[in-house]
Amino acid sequence: MKYEQATEILRQNGQEHLLRFWKTLGKAEQKSLLEQIESIDFREVARCRAMLPGAGKPAAAKKGVPTAPKVTVLKGALLKKAVAAGERELAAGRVGVLLVAGGQGSRLGFEGPKGAYPIGPISNEPLFYFHARKVLALSRRYGASIPFYIMTSMANYADTVAHFEEHGFYGLDKKDVIFFKQGMWPGMTEDGKIILDKPGHVFMSPDGHGGMLAALKANGCFEDMAKRGVKTLFYFQVDNPLVNVAEPAFVGLHVLEKSEYSLKLCAKRNPREGLGMVVRRGRGFDMIEYTEMTREMNYRKTADGDLYFKYGSPAIHVFDREFLEREAKKDMPLHLAHKKIATVDDAGKTVVHDTANGYKFEKFIFDILPDAKRVTLLAFDRRDEFAPVKNAEGSDSPQTCRDALRAKWRRQLAGDLHIIVPSALPLEIDPLYMYDGSDILKRGFLLQKN
Ligand code: UTP
Repeated sequence: MKYEQATEILRQNGQEHLLRFWKTLGKAEQKSLLEQIESIDFREVARCRAMLPGAGKPAAAKKGVPTAPKVTVLKGALLKKAVAAGERELAAGRVGVLLVAGGQGSRLGFEGPKGAYPIGPISNEPLFYFHARKVLALSRRYGASIPFYIMTSMANYADTVAHFEEHGFYGLDKKDVIFFKQGMWPGMTEDGKIILDKPGHVFMSPDGHGGMLAALKANGCFEDMAKRGVKTLFYFQVDNPLVNVAEPAFVGLHVLEKSEYSLKLCAKRNPREGLGMVVRRGRGFDMIEYTEMTREMNYRKTADGDLYFKYGSPAIHVFDREFLEREAKKDMPLHLAHKKIATVDDAGKTVVHDTANGYKFEKFIFDILPDAKRVTLLAFDRRDEFAPVKNAEGSDSPQTCRDALRAKWRRQLAGDLHIIVPSALPLEIDPLYMYDGSDILKRGFLLQKN
């Protein structure tokens, strides 16, 4: 983009101030500022501006009183049927895996992509290792390739790719690991002006995990999936190494139910736990963020004393590919966050603020839930599958996550193989050798035969 083009676009959008330090910038800074301006989608910027508190456009009230949905507990014949259906999908190569890893991980405070955070209790292997080795385990078990789509931000793309290269893609075939970048959105002041945090630099942040849809579309991932024959996508977040990636039973239930969007749900630890809640509204479904749950909703009980809104979402989903493609053509709702954002003063000096002074915008993937024609909700035991690393210390920290990993492995060994490992003994299992207990049973059997 040329300077003249940039001035015209900025004039049309009321953002001319972005070039106010132009004459003081060096050649390289000028070039990168023009590149940043070129990358900004001003149609989305207009939508963001309309969301600002001063814009006078209150969020539309949602229709329908939220009620608790029906949640499936898989057992007996249905469990067997679901596993068989999922295994068929995996063996036929119709399943892909989607990992969103573009977040900033600010609460954890770790330099580099969050997926590179060392979490293995003994090996210190990073989060990416646990995810990738599960994909590899499944693809070996079912003799089919499972494309692994990894979303990064602009900021952590190069480091993420380099991480996988340095680690030999954890044994995966390089052509089955597809990295794609999510979009970045500029931060804004209350009056809708895009923020410069340096004289030649616009403050930008990733557009949220919901940015995945636009990014899949922009990067040709839907075409890639179609070419590979992928119809069903397992989605998860980078910070949870307990997750059962593309678990056959979950994938199978989704397929049997002809679902467009399936979600695993777990019982909340306490009424006020900060998990998104799936609710019914009229004939459809919706996700309510924990901040939108009233006290009355949080504490409401059923006749037998159980929580009425009991199940929360840990962001473990299965999607129909065509549903995602359809949704990628629409505008997603925007969410804004009031944050401290560095700005530049008239002298071109960066000013750091003590209080929130600007807005960041994000899209959330679960906002497509009301559009799904068929939705399946599956209950699971959180001890087995949910211990995210969010904070450096305290709850949802590396410590609680490692404890949960060790406890899960201990339970697997005890339950499937009747091996009791004393809690004082260190324990770690490479997911490649034990996605679940059945892998070890098969291995044991083969070893005896040989
Ligand atoms: P979180 O909401 O936990 O955000 O993301 P975060 O950025 O990782 O961490 P904090 O809030 O700064 O501490 C949940 C999942 O969504 C992904 C993250 O990588 C994580 O897997 N995500 C989040 C993206 O891929 N892009 C985003 O823009 C935001």
